Amino acid sequence: MTALSPNLAALRVEQVSLSFGGLQVLHDISLVMRPGEITGLIGPNGAGKTSFFNCLTGIYSPQRGRIQLGDKRLENVPPPGRAALGFSRSFQHVALCPELTIIENVMIGLHRQSTAGWLDAFLPLSFGKAERARNREQAMSALARLGIAHVANESPSQLPPGVLRLAEIARAIAGSPTVLLLDEPAAGLNSVETHDLAMALKKLRSPDLVLVVVEHDMDLIMDVCDTLHVLNVGRLLASGGPDEIRVNPEVVKVYLGDDDE
Ligand SMILES: Nc1ncnc2c1ncn2[C@@H]1O[C@H](COP(=O)(O)OP(=O)(O)OP(=O)(O)O)[C@@H](O)[C@H]1O
Ligand SMILES: [Mg+2]
Repeated sequence: MTALSPNLAALRVEQVSLSFGGLQVLHDISLVMRPGEITGLIGPNGAGKTSFFNCLTGIYSPQRGRIQLGDKRLENVPPPGRAALGFSRSFQHVALCPELTIIENVMIGLHRQSTAGWLDAFLPLSFGKAERARNREQAMSALARLGIAHVANESPSQLPPGVLRLAEIARAIAGSPTVLLLDEPAAGLNSVETHDLAMALKKLRSPDLVLVVVEHDMDLIMDVCDTLHVLNVGRLLASGGPDEIRVNPEVVKVYLGDDDE
């Protein structure tokens, strides 16, 4: 486990509860996600994992509890403000624009930081030219970090799912986030692609980044994560290192299956 630098901000969630009408989706969740680690969030379908991410990014507003990045309270910070603080995410379903090349898709991830509007990133206007060149360079470097610089000018329709997932992650890291939330990055990938993804995730681990991965692929999550939190029907069932979680009887029972019984 990487030592926690005192300068960098942990993402803390305290007693967060979320409901929609009569349906309580998250019950009193408290946990800490630290920079320098890869944090895994696991749990069965409908456990509340994506809802939890939506609370972190401000898409959902929990009725109770607090969320804070370092000393900064986030309850009243709307999603664009959280993006400006360095929150970035990928989605459960591949969300690349099929009309754009891979590098153009990654450049979209940079438009929030642009002084020119995002359209200027694509239109041949002299106003946005220097910025466009800078964004292209940053996007290229994100693709290179994930080992897929060679597909920069290809269309998403020509590429396999594993490469598309890496491209989505490249888009999410292009703006150098401080918090990166990945929602089921291995969904739909074969074992070779999942192995490449694991290598890529391990390379992203950095003292400057809070990296949280929601995933159903247990081999992947046990391999890459330093700390795991297990959700079950909206409640935090267990937290700990992979070796602890793997043998936690509650977790084995509700999540990993208890076929031996
Ligand atoms: N906007 C919403 N309105 C009403 N109910 C919602 C909303 N978003 C999520 N839910 C409900 O919250 C519960 C948790 O859903 P969520 O998508 O967070 O689970 P999950 O752990 O991500 O599941 P999966 O592994 O299938 O992606 C589900 O019962 C879902 O129907
Ligand atoms: Mg989900």
